[in-house]
Amino acid sequence: MNKIGIGLVGCGTVGSGLIRNLPKANGLIAQRLGIQLEIRGIAVKDPSKTRPDLPLPAVGDWKKVVADPAVQIVVELVGGTSESFAIAEACIQARKPFVTANKALLAERGQELIALAQKSGSPIYFEASVAGGIPVLKALREGLVANQLLGLHGIINGTSNYILTRMAEAGSDFSTALKEAKDLGYAEADDRLDVDGIDAGHKAAILCLLAYGFLPKFSEIPVEGIRQISSQDVSFAHQLGYVIKLLAMIKPVGSEQIEVRVAPTLLPARHPMASVHGAFNAVGLIGNLSGPVQFTGRGAGPDATSSALLADLAEAAKNLCDKAPGPALPKPSSKMTLIEKDASVGRFYARIEVEDRPGVLAQVAGIFGSEKIGISSVLQPEGRGAGSVPLVFLLEPAPLSSLQRAIASICKLPNTRAPATILRVEDLL
Ligand code: HSE
Repeated sequence: MNKIGIGLVGCGTVGSGLIRNLPKANGLIAQRLGIQLEIRGIAVKDPSKTRPDLPLPAVGDWKKVVADPAVQIVVELVGGTSESFAIAEACIQARKPFVTANKALLAERGQELIALAQKSGSPIYFEASVAGGIPVLKALREGLVANQLLGLHGIINGTSNYILTRMAEAGSDFSTALKEAKDLGYAEADDRLDVDGIDAGHKAAILCLLAYGFLPKFSEIPVEGIRQISSQDVSFAHQLGYVIKLLAMIKPVGSEQIEVRVAPTLLPARHPMASVHGAFNAVGLIGNLSGPVQFTGRGAGPDATSSALLADLAEAAKNLCDKAPGPALPKPSSKMTLIEKDASVGRFYARIEVEDRPGVLAQVAGIFGSEKIGISSVLQPEGRGAGSVPLVFLLEPAPLSSLQRAIASICKLPNTRAPATILRVEDLL
């Protein structure tokens, strides 16, 4: 039996999950691959804190773990992009395989990291960075490698999906649902990353890299979160036959451009992705040969993330034993660019609060018409003397720039109140 030494840098919720799940997984990995993984070093921020869950005493300096000759593979679970990059760099220099769940590191500094790893031939593994327990990066690297990808879409933030599900099904308010997601170990330490769409944006960038060999500049990806979603929108969407999900879209536009975005999006209630609830994630891929493929599974939480980390550790350990190189990393392409945000064409949902007076609906509809935006459906609940009423429109496909012009004109009408809520609509394959 080959024994491979593991060093753990960072040991919060995900690290504790990995330690808890390792013994049982080790039996299976030994049986299937003839390898045993042994934790031989742990570095944490505060080693003086009592941690009965750790199998050995932790140190405070991660460099000791990386330098320890008994440690052959390093798992980084500290998060962020500065210290984690330094750890990755040290592992690459020491030629120790580097395993991470850190999507921010890959999305924001992936270009540098991949260049370093490729130059030195020292492998990096990051399956756990996208969609928790769903092995979607391996599917892209292996099972779908012969496919030209016509597009990808996904629910890739478990916390947001949990919140939207609780709002739709239990009528929970946003902050109660967020607290539940935190208590269940789904949310990031800084939960703004989840609810403001940044975590999903990071994962979308990594999916884009694997699918198209193009890592978009993270700051240029349009990213919106779910804070502006009210229970009113959830209910109007339902009446129109849709559900609201925080959706990542990645789709080529011509041969050298790509659209990548994260936004709360109305999906048809009959689409399989609409029934992905709670902290579950789903990724849909459309291959030219495979046709549409959808993966669904737990996207957040220590057990699901451990599944991906342990798969990477097993692969890294097997490659070490076989003296094989790690997985081929995509060579980031310099030819591709992101489309300009305003050039995006799509369908939209618009909720506009207006004074309940004759002629207002006609004025608003007239502005959409003057921008050549067709209306698919309209909802207006009875005002019952409340003074204002919501007008809800589902619109036909239009350039984002036309929609923005129309909404700006509508918001200037004397009878319009408050900012409009605009959401994407995707009918999906
Ligand atoms: N906070 C993340 C989520 C965890 O909610 O999806 C996994 O990346």
